[in-house]
Amino acid sequence: MGLSEKLMKQGGKPSGLPGRVIGYLMNLSHKNIYLWGLKDISGGKMTKALDIGCGGGEVIKLLATKMPEGKVYGIDHSPEMVALSKRVNRSLLENDRVEINQGSVSTLPYEDNMFEIVTAFETIQFWTNLNHDLKEVKRVLKPSGSLLIVNRYPDLQGKDAGWAEVLQIHSSGEYREQLSTAGFVDISIDEKSNPGWILVLSRKP
Ligand SMILES: C[S@@+](CC[C@H](N)C(=O)[O-])C[C@H]1O[C@@H](n2cnc3c(N)ncnc32)[C@H](O)[C@@H]1O
Repeated sequence: MGLSEKLMKQGGKPSGLPGRVIGYLMNLSHKNIYLWGLKDISGGKMTKALDIGCGGGEVIKLLATKMPEGKVYGIDHSPEMVALSKRVNRSLLENDRVEINQGSVSTLPYEDNMFEIVTAFETIQFWTNLNHDLKEVKRVLKPSGSLLIVNRYPDLQGKDAGWAEVLQIHSSGEYREQLSTAGFVDISIDEKSNPGWILVLSRKP
């Protein structure tokens, strides 16, 4: 397996010692991206949020800060990332402000119409059946609930094209098409304000 495939595999399901190191590094290096992605989310009235592919658990913590009255759920299919997320959010877990589960986006262990918002930072490129998985996200969202996707967005035509292919980055058109095919509406895309990153917001009808 080549280096790029190894990196892709670790990013998609961090495991073992390298996975734990990657989890810590993501928490450190993505902090500004988490803050940028969540900047317009006012959680004061929200009761339940879910972060899918929660990795090292920093987004869970930030969401919990924005939602003083609410509860934040996180899910990841990597046992190492679930353990790290639990460590990072220990006191919130003890106070029942947070719940973290191991599982896949394809079969979310949550009731229908449960969340006001679902977030997905740097994870959607790893989802193996995007149409099915987006419908699964829609199932657990409340009517009018939002899906916030934040992802790397290299220059797909220029010098980053090879890298983008390794990372299986979707174009903004692909995001729009996949989301509307899965039944999401009010799709808005910001690919300009933070070069190299994309923010895609949509809503369950
Ligand atoms: C590149 S990491 C990003 C982690 C975190 N969201 C962040 O931005 O720092 C991708 C994460 O998505 C998780 N993941 C990938 N595919 C998944 C799936 N089908 N279901 C649940 N988690 C998944 C991986 O285990 C990994 O923790």
